[in-house]
Amino acid sequence: MKKTVALILAGGSGTRMGSEIPKQFLLLGGKPVITYSMEVFELSDEVSEVIVVCNKSHISVMEDIVAVTGSRKISKIVPGGDTRQESSFLGLSSCSSSTGYVLIHDSARPFLTADGISDLLEKAANTGAAAPVVGINDTVVDICDGRVWGIPSRETFGRIQTPQVFKYEVIMEAHKKALERGVTGAGDDCTLVFSSGGEVAVTEGKEENIKITSGMDMDLAQLILKTRTFGVRP
Ligand code: CTP
Ligand code: MG
Repeated sequence: MKKTVALILAGGSGTRMGSEIPKQFLLLGGKPVITYSMEVFELSDEVSEVIVVCNKSHISVMEDIVAVTGSRKISKIVPGGDTRQESSFLGLSSCSSSTGYVLIHDSARPFLTADGISDLLEKAANTGAAAPVVGINDTVVDICDGRVWGIPSRETFGRIQTPQVFKYEVIMEAHKKALERGVTGAGDDCTLVFSSGGEVAVTEGKEENIKITSGMDMDLAQLILKTRTFGVRP
């Protein structure tokens, strides 16, 4: 029986956040942001193994975090690369040949859910790739030189989140093809599957599954956490 592996990407330095320590290590509700993702994968019946990718200078910090979470599924901590794409490829390359599906997740998204994972795995079984998408509330504009050139219907546009789920051979092939084409800076993994001609299914993402990017997102994350814990906004 092939395994389903979750890959948590934590190799970034959080330049836009501008904090001294990378955002995945900042404390949210008293524990590091990355811990939330580790806990969801630990409790998911569908995930059998978890691999964490991080900058090699943070491996010992990560080992301490893993020890505190008491995770039994985290099999290894892999040194990451200079770009998200490279970190993802290094993590994927460390998976064993018995990997059937892989979930690739940003460590900066603490609010993923177990039912989100089930939906994604179900979709990816048909297409080979699936990602959660949320809608856009503002008007979408095509801009250039300080002018609006087009206003597409926002109903047909969305924002893609993680975790993104792939058949292992599909995502490995997409990464290899991207490297052959000289692509190194993809912002996510679905982009690589799509741009190499693959099919990507979508599931309904959740607004609360934010990616902590700047300081304001940390405030929003605190608020989401309180809502989840107490059921009401303070
Ligand atoms: N990531 C990674 N390896 C990199 C760059 C990013 O594993 N070389 C991870 C980050 O740790 C993050 C996820 O990819 O969880 C999404 O990236 P992003 O939000 O861009 O995080 P950073 O690259 O850390 O932030 P910034 O772009 O502001 O520097
Ligand atoms: Mg980045």
